[in-house]
Amino acid sequence: MTTDADHAGDATASLLLDAARRGAAYLQGLGRRAVRPSPDAIAGLARLEQPLPEAPSDPATVLAELDASVSPATMAMAGPRFFGFVIGGALPAALAANWLASAWDQNAALESVTPGVARVEAVALRWLVDVLGLPPGTEGAFVTGATMANFTALAAARHAVLARAGWDVAADGLAGAPPVTVIVGEETHPTLLKSLGLLGFGRRGVVRLPVDAQGRIRADALPRLSGPTIVCLQAGNINTGAFDPFDALCMRAREAGAWVHVDGAFGLWAQASPQLAPLSRGVERADSWATDAHKWLNVPYDCGLAFVREPGALPAAMSISAEYLPTSGAQRSPSDFTPELSRRARGVEVWAALRSLGRSGLAGLLERNCRQARRFAARLAEAGCEILNEVVLNQVLVSFGSPEETRRVIAAVQEDGTCWCGGTVWQGRAAMRISVCSWATTDADVELSIEAILRAMRHPGA
Ligand SMILES: Cc1ncc(COP(=O)(O)O)c(C=O)c1O
Repeated sequence: MTTDADHAGDATASLLLDAARRGAAYLQGLGRRAVRPSPDAIAGLARLEQPLPEAPSDPATVLAELDASVSPATMAMAGPRFFGFVIGGALPAALAANWLASAWDQNAALESVTPGVARVEAVALRWLVDVLGLPPGTEGAFVTGATMANFTALAAARHAVLARAGWDVAADGLAGAPPVTVIVGEETHPTLLKSLGLLGFGRRGVVRLPVDAQGRIRADALPRLSGPTIVCLQAGNINTGAFDPFDALCMRAREAGAWVHVDGAFGLWAQASPQLAPLSRGVERADSWATDAHKWLNVPYDCGLAFVREPGALPAAMSISAEYLPTSGAQRSPSDFTPELSRRARGVEVWAALRSLGRSGLAGLLERNCRQARRFAARLAEAGCEILNEVVLNQVLVSFGSPEETRRVIAAVQEDGTCWCGGTVWQGRAAMRISVCSWATTDADVELSIEAILRAMRHPGA
């Protein structure tokens, strides 16, 4: 005998299979289509501009409508030739795990209620501490991205440095608290300043240290430190990929009892490759770190990671309790480490990515992308372009001459559609950014993209 529930289950199963089929077809088509969406596809989005329907619709129709209108209007960020910003793709195992975890629909806040995802996230965090070479015992949290990871780790920093000065910021807030000196580099990422602002450390009060031509803080510029102090360093400058000199800065900061935080949104992953790790030497001396799994670990959005060395420092800033929230369990209570209470179990994809890559697969991915970045730089330099940075990691800055000419080439590359690169201004010079961050990028994709960039450079009318 079949019941109504069986029928509903069958309908859900066939809808999910349809979604999987559509998703797979989309991904298979990415290598063949223009990376940017076509003007026609963008115009087609007008079909979405309808009033809220009064009546329910068949879910299969809803999915078909979404696929028809939105899939063609997406940027092919998941494909092999998107080199804008710092955008990873989604590894097959991570994407599939994401779909499975969506079916589970677990609220990952409480270990005793959702033990499966709590355990898989705890294991993933342990693996991350290991592969990133962070001090044993470092605690971590899954958040939406590096912006929130910086916020989360810096909240722990704020709590700890004020606690050492005899002030309980969680209880008493910042009004009347001992002043905290916050130090950043001139080339800090704007989201770090935003995170500091959210924590009550306004931009005007932050001390900015001068940097060198690659955007690295000049170690000799660190002032004498005293009192509650947070020093914010960077692993991987968004434009050049450069690393601050951690050894020297961490040593001096620690001697003065300051807290050192590292924004390593993509650069912290250098730690996972024996070949690249010398770039981030000394980063493990810091007190906290932020990074993104949705960048170089190639898991789907959104997935950032905050790490704090001192056991208990993260929960001191983040834990909550209420009678209705059962916190007793054998493992850690995830919501004691994150700004959110309810959240999706984004650590599942991290576990799947690490499980599928293994240590050597991860190192191989990082090293391949860096080699591909060097190939871009070498071929473009050979063709007469100026490379503005030392290509130490996966970022390449290219000038095609005057600012106008550089902007023209960027627009022509984007329009051509073979690949997608964005623009920037690096220390007063207009540049095209090439950021190689995807597992899907093959050496053939790099050659195709180089040819497309050279075409755009050589044909002013193109
Ligand atoms: C160094 C650095 N910090 C922070 C961020 C912000 O990351 P998210 O967009 O994941 O919040 C980025 C983004 O590229 C970055 O490169």
